[in-house]
Amino acid sequence: MFETEQNAIETRIQAFCKENDIPLAALEWKPLPFSGEWGMSTSFFSTAAAESRLGKKIGVATRAQEIASQVKAQLSDVPGIRRVEAVMGYLNLYYDTQEFTRRVVDSVLDKKDRFGSGPATGQLVMIEFSQPNTHKAFHVGHLRGTILGDALCRILEFAGNDIVRANYPGDMGMHVIKWLWGYLKFHNGEEPATDITRWMGEVYAEAAHRIEQDPTFEAELRALYARWDQRDPEIVALWERTRAWSMEGFRQIYAALDVRFDVYYFNSQEEKPGKEMVEDLVRRGIATDDRPNGGAVIVKIDEVLALNKDQYRTAVVLRSDGTALYATEDLALTLHKFRDYPHLAKSVYVVDVRQSLHFTQVFKILEIAGYTQAQKCSHVPYELVTLPGNVVVSSREGTVVLLEDLLREATSRAREEAKKKNPNLTADQLDSVSKAVGLGALKYPILARENTKMVTFDWQTALDFNGQAAPYIQYAHVRCNSILKKAGVDPANLPHSQFANSLEPAEVELIDWLSRFPAEVQRSAAEYKPLVIASIAYDIARAFAGFYDACPVVQAAPDVRDARLRLVAAVKIVLANALSLLGITAPDVM
Ligand code: ARG
Repeated sequence: MFETEQNAIETRIQAFCKENDIPLAALEWKPLPFSGEWGMSTSFFSTAAAESRLGKKIGVATRAQEIASQVKAQLSDVPGIRRVEAVMGYLNLYYDTQEFTRRVVDSVLDKKDRFGSGPATGQLVMIEFSQPNTHKAFHVGHLRGTILGDALCRILEFAGNDIVRANYPGDMGMHVIKWLWGYLKFHNGEEPATDITRWMGEVYAEAAHRIEQDPTFEAELRALYARWDQRDPEIVALWERTRAWSMEGFRQIYAALDVRFDVYYFNSQEEKPGKEMVEDLVRRGIATDDRPNGGAVIVKIDEVLALNKDQYRTAVVLRSDGTALYATEDLALTLHKFRDYPHLAKSVYVVDVRQSLHFTQVFKILEIAGYTQAQKCSHVPYELVTLPGNVVVSSREGTVVLLEDLLREATSRAREEAKKKNPNLTADQLDSVSKAVGLGALKYPILARENTKMVTFDWQTALDFNGQAAPYIQYAHVRCNSILKKAGVDPANLPHSQFANSLEPAEVELIDWLSRFPAEVQRSAAEYKPLVIASIAYDIARAFAGFYDACPVVQAAPDVRDARLRLVAAVKIVLANALSLLGITAPDVM
């Protein structure tokens, strides 16, 4: 915000140091913690240390303070800087509050939906997320990964990266064989109509249940697996046809969630190349082939690395019967991604925290085998979601809560709330408001939580118009919109925000939050934490509520009114930007 001033100040400091033979070290600037006024700070410890290395006989701290005071004397008249302090080796510069405010608001109104975005990094980042299993239901367990992954894509892109959104549906494995078995035995010839994914899930659950009831079915299942493994054309054709049903069901769910993908990988494609990689690991002595003794193929990672502690442990990379495992496929998948996108700077896997060891092992084995790509791979783990009544969501047990149901319930509850709040909405408005609020209610509680902490979902909190929840933030956006509409002017046409000499504390707080948004975007991206954005969105909405109560806008005196209108327009933009990074719509009415 004050780059020009910073440069001018640096030039003066450099000139001063040169004249006085001070070996100035590179200056690092940090924003001062906000204390009712804004500023930036730097220090002279490195410079003092450099002098001391050159033989100067004075304590580093004392000398740093000496330099700071001398420099301060050079900076009494920098425009935009209200005052300068030299304390304990630090140089603190305080901005002119009005000037800072004007710049923040102008910058938001100027950059609009790009406010907060970072400069292009030129880095290509792949984010793999969602990864549901075909031939099964898409349950709320997948919801968190999908919502989290989508938000990460949005945030990392906004922060300046190029993003590849990847999906990796589990389209092969025992669950698919079970489904095919159940279909052939009890549902042969049937086709799904509406609610495809629900039906796919039901066929699966029924098959799993029957097999549990009657263990003699196991033999049929094994026989079917063998037919698949030999690529029996009839089974392959059935698998392809039914897999397409699942994929169509997922497509509908992603459309409802407003989530998209650039590329799909499939477990089934990685089976063969994965097996070949394992054979290569065996040939090179990295993997141990215990198959002759009836065992599996394993990599004793700690032993290979000559570690004498338990760190990476032993990974099984191929079954004793030579069939591929989940890990077999991930070995191949990792390389596949880099073949498709050779310039990937990072390859990120958004997956359940229970798979942490799995990914650590896969990446380590690849590294041992000399694939340097593995160093660019990382696992972003997340925890489960529990539902009201403490239902832990698991795909295997009967506690599956379907995403479709959840989405439907969210929308209908949102509709009730919206009707209560504003009976004047038209039917169209009500439709789009309930969709926006329903989706927000589903996404926000997941994103506002530390990735690796459990989310306990409940409707009351999710749809709270007065607490830390999406509707509260969306409502702040709506209020901004109605103020602007009531004023009947386009803030972009108002003279540049000239703020009054004494800003109200509520204004100052609000502006402070807006000014932090760009740095918070960077932090959120660097730490893979949408929580950072979820929090600041709420903080801005809350600060806006304080402002709304304390500061009249339309009724204020003309010059104050114009400045505040521009502030309201800026708040509206930043709220919409923050919500959009979370995959949540900001409605204009509700
Ligand atoms: N489909 C898997 C599951 O439901 C997740 C796949 C994660 N990605 C990967 N590359 N292994 O557990």
